[in-house]
Amino acid sequence: MKLCVQPGALQSAKICMPGDKSISHRALILGSIACGKTRVRGFLNGEDNRATLTCMRQLGVQIDEVSESELVVHGVGKQGLVASVEPLNCRNSGTAMRLLAGLLSAQVFDSTLIGDASLSARPMTRITDPLAFMGALIATTGEGTAPLYIQGMHHLKGVTYEMQIASAQVKSCLLLAGLYAKGQTIVRSPGETRDHTERMLKAMQYPITQDGNCISIEGGGELTACDIDIPSDLSSAAFFIVAAAIAKAGMLTLNSVGVNPTRNGILRILKQMGAEITLSNMHTSTNEPIADICIQASQLQGVVISEALVSLAIDELPVIMIAAACAQGKTVLRGASELRVKESDRIHAMVVGLRAVGINVEEYEDGVVIEGGQLNGGEVDSFGDHRIAMSFLIAGLVASAPIIVSNCQPIKTSFPNFISLAQSVGMQVEVVL
Ligand code: S3P
Repeated sequence: MKLCVQPGALQSAKICMPGDKSISHRALILGSIACGKTRVRGFLNGEDNRATLTCMRQLGVQIDEVSESELVVHGVGKQGLVASVEPLNCRNSGTAMRLLAGLLSAQVFDSTLIGDASLSARPMTRITDPLAFMGALIATTGEGTAPLYIQGMHHLKGVTYEMQIASAQVKSCLLLAGLYAKGQTIVRSPGETRDHTERMLKAMQYPITQDGNCISIEGGGELTACDIDIPSDLSSAAFFIVAAAIAKAGMLTLNSVGVNPTRNGILRILKQMGAEITLSNMHTSTNEPIADICIQASQLQGVVISEALVSLAIDELPVIMIAAACAQGKTVLRGASELRVKESDRIHAMVVGLRAVGINVEEYEDGVVIEGGQLNGGEVDSFGDHRIAMSFLIAGLVASAPIIVSNCQPIKTSFPNFISLAQSVGMQVEVVL
């Protein structure tokens, strides 16, 4: 599917983004192994989360879909999962595969995790090495990729593990295995990463200790089901935040967005660039901080992005690169080599796309230097990556001629109603043949 965006202004509006993808995965997984019923509101009904939902059903969990965004997960307790006859298909979702690998390594039955072509090319030894260290029997292909073959093994032992990369997926994988391990599992990260797993475990009354970037969990306890109200996804909001920051006119208010400090790098970076962003109606729900975010246009300035903010804005960096392309001066992003192993090589995809619309970019192994300027129209490829597709659709608002983005189907992995929401704020976005 190709989409085309015409240059133009936004209409001022108050809109709601879909639910948070990371929290939706965790609600399904932790709800499944809790004791009791977990009612989930604000669930993101996108393809990635549906992959996790299908996997949990295959593992014997009853999940009622009350409405598009409301579920009831009938928890089976930590020992209640059963083997899936078929391989568990995580499709495009790295979070599904890496979190489920931790959970399934600790079960008494065997499991196989598979994914689509993109997921099957992504690195998995970052989880299989530490899981093996805990005593798991888990194998990858010779390239260290999926399929993952897990042999049932219920004698994991707690370990102390120093992660080489700041990754919430690796951390969460090990915490899930740690729930079943004998003794204490301690995970140290070289940087701050999203802490949704820790917050949800606490909401389910499972003790977990945090000291800076070091988390410890003791195996053997039980999780108690609770109601989970999922905030809107800041990673989806990011596209509209940048749209309002760069567009010629229009003020957007995004209601009830998750603003967890381990996820809010985009807000900090855009504010440094001079964006006019205000947060109001701050509150907390199921341990997650939430706010309404209001954004209006302003002239952005290029900045040097602090490497400490990279893991706090990891999924938003493609659309931040669009903001950088519209800013005055240079923006430097380094220390972001993780972008090369996302749903696509996001450094390569953004460099190719930005150059195609006339922006000067220097490419480095771990980042980019972007010189702000006037974007031209043209055609860019999403490289099969939802966030690359949406980033360039936002860029179309301020280009001198329409931007066409090819390969837009994956948008529905994380943001099924992106097009209709974009149209509702005045963006002229249409399917082209
Ligand atoms: C996620 C963690 C991040 C992020 C991904 C979702 C999560 O990945 O990029 O989209 O839900 O834990 P890494 O842990 O690989 O950085």
